[in-house]
Amino acid sequence: MTSTSTTKDKSSITSVQATATHCVMAIQPGIKLQFKDVSKLFVIGQKSVDALLDVNLAVKSGQFVSIIGESGCGKTTLLRIAAGLIPATTGDVLMDSTPVIRPRREIGFVFQQPVLLEWRTVMENILLPAEIYKFNVKEYRNKAAKLLAMMGLSGFENHYSVQLSGGMQQRVAIARALILEPSVLLMDEPFGALDAITREQMNNELLKIWSISGTTALFVTHDIAEAVYLSDRVVVLSSRPGRIQRIFEIELPRPRTPEHRFADRFTHYCREMKHAMMG
Ligand SMILES: Nc1ncnc2c1ncn2[C@@H]1O[C@H](COP(=O)(O)OP(=O)(O)OP(=O)(O)O)[C@@H](O)[C@H]1O
Ligand SMILES: [Mg+2]
Repeated sequence: MTSTSTTKDKSSITSVQATATHCVMAIQPGIKLQFKDVSKLFVIGQKSVDALLDVNLAVKSGQFVSIIGESGCGKTTLLRIAAGLIPATTGDVLMDSTPVIRPRREIGFVFQQPVLLEWRTVMENILLPAEIYKFNVKEYRNKAAKLLAMMGLSGFENHYSVQLSGGMQQRVAIARALILEPSVLLMDEPFGALDAITREQMNNELLKIWSISGTTALFVTHDIAEAVYLSDRVVVLSSRPGRIQRIFEIELPRPRTPEHRFADRFTHYCREMKHAMMG
């Protein structure tokens, strides 16, 4: 089991992964994603960076959870481990009781930059995951068209990314992450590059899509107010190595509306989180 492993050498990590391929671990009912004692040490030559330390977190099915913390505290690393893009040094991430050890079609990922293929149209970009997994792409065209409509991008199917604004490109990236109907959606500061007004619009569109799709969302942001507005829970990471400093349950009604941003409770959460981030 990787959770009991303490080794930090790469070859051992590979063999540990291989062992974990077939194992199913106990997970509480209703929990979609569970981080169990997750630590990450990056080793580059003689130097090493402790990025994460003993992260334990259970994300309920259908919840929207945000992760905040100062730059370099390990947020992206945590998301990449959850996506199966890199291994944890010790510990496990379980999805539906199975360790995540490689990218899975049930897990969608939205990067900070939209990373669209500029020689492909909007429609072709959205259909890319279906091609990668060798599904019948034609069957996904309707689904892609529906996602585009939900994103307010109908009519842009045949445009190329250079013909889109930053917000539109990021919406295409979200549609691409949703095309295979992932049950977990991981997002790494997807709106970081957008202006404040577009960002608020994107927040509302994301919430709409999240509530329709029923997906479990794990969202990384630097923006405390964004985290409060979107989330059921907000996890504050300490400075590096990232550990869980505090978890806030956000007791604001849904659906969220822009008015919620002016509620006393909203500003109270923001203030408390700011203090938690300052340690
Ligand atoms: N592939 C890597 N190799 C070596 N060190 C890495 C690697 N990826 C991340 N790190 C280091 O791990 C630490 C955490 O990085 P990470 O990107 O997870 O932080 P972050 O919280 O996402 O920061 P930001 O808010 O600036 O995006 C940093 O010190 C970083 O330099
Ligand atoms: Mg990051």
